[in-house]
Amino acid sequence: MSSNSPVALVTGASRGIGRAIAVELASAGYDIVVNFVSQAEAAEETAALVAREGREALVAQADISSAEDRANMIEETRSRFGRIDVLVNNAALAPRERVDLLESSEEHYDRTLDVNLKGPFFLTQSVAGWMVEERQADPGRKLYIVNISSLSEYTSSVLRGDYCLAKAGLGMLTSLFADRLGEHDIPVNEIRPGIIATDMTAGAKEKYDKLFAEGLTPFKRWGQPEDVARAVRALVGGDFDFATGAAIDLDGGFHLHRL
Ligand SMILES: NC(=O)c1ccc[n+]([C@@H]2O[C@H](COP(=O)([O-])OP(=O)(O)OC[C@H]3O[C@@H](n4cnc5c(N)ncnc54)[C@H](O)[C@@H]3O)[C@@H](O)[C@H]2O)c1
Repeated sequence: MSSNSPVALVTGASRGIGRAIAVELASAGYDIVVNFVSQAEAAEETAALVAREGREALVAQADISSAEDRANMIEETRSRFGRIDVLVNNAALAPRERVDLLESSEEHYDRTLDVNLKGPFFLTQSVAGWMVEERQADPGRKLYIVNISSLSEYTSSVLRGDYCLAKAGLGMLTSLFADRLGEHDIPVNEIRPGIIATDMTAGAKEKYDKLFAEGLTPFKRWGQPEDVARAVRALVGGDFDFATGAAIDLDGGFHLHRL
């Protein structure tokens, strides 16, 4: 049986930007698949926030780098909701070690690329296949894929080269699936957040506070997870339906070249 409400699968929704996206899409009327890999309590908190918006949440533990976990999560989504309308590829591994490019390890490279690029690639492949079925069954359905990339897609940080490589690859992932899914009217777009106040950046708070004060970006403030979440809501809200393969720099102006 299919749910009457649209369904959004948000990866890495247990905290930070993913949680904010889950809550924002719930307030827009979506039931939510709250994916997480660890910290089950945090994922349950996200589910409670979704419920507070009057929507249903399926809490789905899956390591997105694992083929088996991805398949199980999709199966759970099928049996609980019977439909998929939105995929948000948000989950990523923060750089665990900040190591100079000349010394970084192959093991760390593999893990980062597995979670931050291979996982989104194959999850998108599976969900896209399902969305094509959805489109054939119902030509009027609104279907969307949104990738959460980063300013690291085009900014060199030599202490986290593998993270930058994965995000650069995610940019091409957006282009590839936008191209492939165009014939099915499925927009695939990405948001490139700047520096956002989450657990991922908490350890570098002082550094970024100072950089903002010194004028790193035209807007002298941290981004908030809700800034990203509102942009996702806009992308899936119907007003950007002629955009595909597009990237939104949501970064207080970080990407500008300035003199
Ligand atoms: N915080 C920032 O400044 C910033 C800037 C640019 C881009 N981003 C991007 O935004 C996204 C969210 O970042 P955040 O700051 O909320 O990070 P975070 O570390 O707070 O949250 C990451 C989420 O991903 C999940 N996750 C990690 N590995 C996973 C795996 N193997 N399988 C499933 N889930 C997994 C975590 O459990 C967590 O829920 C990431 O793609 C990140 O690269 C963040």
